[in-house]
Amino acid sequence: MDTRPIGVFDSGVGGLTVVKQIMKVMPHENIVYFGDTARVPYGTKSKEAVTKYSKQNVRFLLSKGVKAIIVACNTASSNSIDALRDTFDVPIFGVVVPGVEEALLSTKNKKIGVIGTPGTVRSGAYEKMICEKDGEMQVFTKACPLFVPLAEEGWTDNEVSRQAAKRYLDELVEKGIDSLVLGCTHYPLLKRCIGTTVGDAIKLVDPAKATALRVMHFLGERNQLNQEDAEGKKQFYLSDSTDTFQFVCEKALKFPYQPQIIDIERY
Ligand code: DGL
Repeated sequence: MDTRPIGVFDSGVGGLTVVKQIMKVMPHENIVYFGDTARVPYGTKSKEAVTKYSKQNVRFLLSKGVKAIIVACNTASSNSIDALRDTFDVPIFGVVVPGVEEALLSTKNKKIGVIGTPGTVRSGAYEKMICEKDGEMQVFTKACPLFVPLAEEGWTDNEVSRQAAKRYLDELVEKGIDSLVLGCTHYPLLKRCIGTTVGDAIKLVDPAKATALRVMHFLGERNQLNQEDAEGKKQFYLSDSTDTFQFVCEKALKFPYQPQIIDIERY
């Protein structure tokens, strides 16, 4: 057994949607979360910038003694995971592979939509991996950059978010997709709005649960799960103060936690 925490990072509040699934699947695990709120969004930044930020985030989490790291950010997972694995000697999990596996299980007509940040879409990570696994798959991607500030603002299902969703998603619906990957960890916060826009016939694929299960199996196989009876402790760190974090924690995800602010540039 290993009581060290699992480290999780994202550019902001989005990774909390992954923390929620970790808490469901592995309630006894201690978690250290870092949200890089000073430098959000990652999705419009270059691969080099995202990789530099991600390395600093991993160094910070390692300073907290974590046993594994979850990159709860599709932009960092699709652009920087290889660089992170080459640099650090700790198990590092991304969200793209679980998202791809879920999408392949979900689709019946082999037409998959993927929405994400410009950085994730530009990386081509989802199409590449989906088509490597099944050459008959058709993948349609769409960058939805406004969804991140809408989620950070807490505007998860109002007139503005619904209009944005329509503008972004109508073209994917017209392609005849039957599954839509929420390829950004902020997007599950807008799930209701996205679901209403695309309609019931399109299944929304959120990679978060599959990611948590993957980590659970990995730790279980190595006898590294926390077997203590108590619920795991959660520590939340941000690189800048934000009211939104508190809002999302309490209202959307039901975590009553206070974040601490750290200077990420020191790492
Ligand atoms: N939540 C992140 C993702 O999954 C990044 C959003 C952003 O910072 O642009 O891609």
